[in-house]
Amino acid sequence: MKLTYSGKTKDVYRLEDGHVLLKFKDDVTGEDGVFDPGANTVGLTIDGAGKSGLRMTKYFFEKLEEQNVPTHYIDADLDEVTMTVKPATVFGKGLEVICRYRAVGSFLRRFGAYAEEGQVLDAFVEVTLKDDERQDPPISEDALAQLHILTHEEYATLKELTQQISEVVRSEMAEKGLELYDIKLEFGRDPERNIMLIDEISGGNMRVYQGDTYIAPMELEKILFS
Ligand SMILES: Nc1ncnc2c1ncn2[C@@H]1O[C@H](COP(=O)(O)OP(=O)(O)O)[C@@H](O)[C@H]1O
Ligand SMILES: [Mg+2]
Repeated sequence: MKLTYSGKTKDVYRLEDGHVLLKFKDDVTGEDGVFDPGANTVGLTIDGAGKSGLRMTKYFFEKLEEQNVPTHYIDADLDEVTMTVKPATVFGKGLEVICRYRAVGSFLRRFGAYAEEGQVLDAFVEVTLKDDERQDPPISEDALAQLHILTHEEYATLKELTQQISEVVRSEMAEKGLELYDIKLEFGRDPERNIMLIDEISGGNMRVYQGDTYIAPMELEKILFS
């Protein structure tokens, strides 16, 4: 197998059979040792973070597959901390799609003149460009179409899938007395050009609270599977 990309939290390998292998690392995003799911730098390394992220990812991707949501998932190996997936081509240089149920993080930083911290949002969807150099700027539907990154039709599909997937995660959390504030997803195209969910669904890509208390990724995984 051949290393094709070394990301912030995973290494990506191309397998001989054409599949892609994602190796989850113990690195998590954040700054100066503080975890932040919205950050685009590695902030800290935590023993077991990779395995914890993979366990949650495996759980949610298998759940989504059962519900016939298109995803890249093939299988996961918790001992090797790897996940085998279908190869995807991403939109432009990559997009992140965020679904928000409460106003925190970058939403609050941008719209704080109009929104109160923790204000309820209606499964609000927004897209950002994966562009570390430019701090992952938010991009509108019109800009995505204008720049030939997504058609309006594809945007509609992406938004619908995002709300559907986020609702699966939200309701799963709610069953454990947890509240999902926001979540970040990634999508790509399969070899037949169909849109599918890619990457991961782990504590590192979402903010979850228990009452007023923020629950860190590895603790979240423990509560979820307890
Ligand atoms: N099925 C897939 N095919 C190809 N690339 C993928 C697939 N799933 C995820 N990726 C990409 O692999 C990388 C995973 O590594 P990660 O550390 O999360 O990267 P990043 O630093 O870009 O967030 C991401 O760039 C993600 O877009
Ligand atoms: Mg990533």
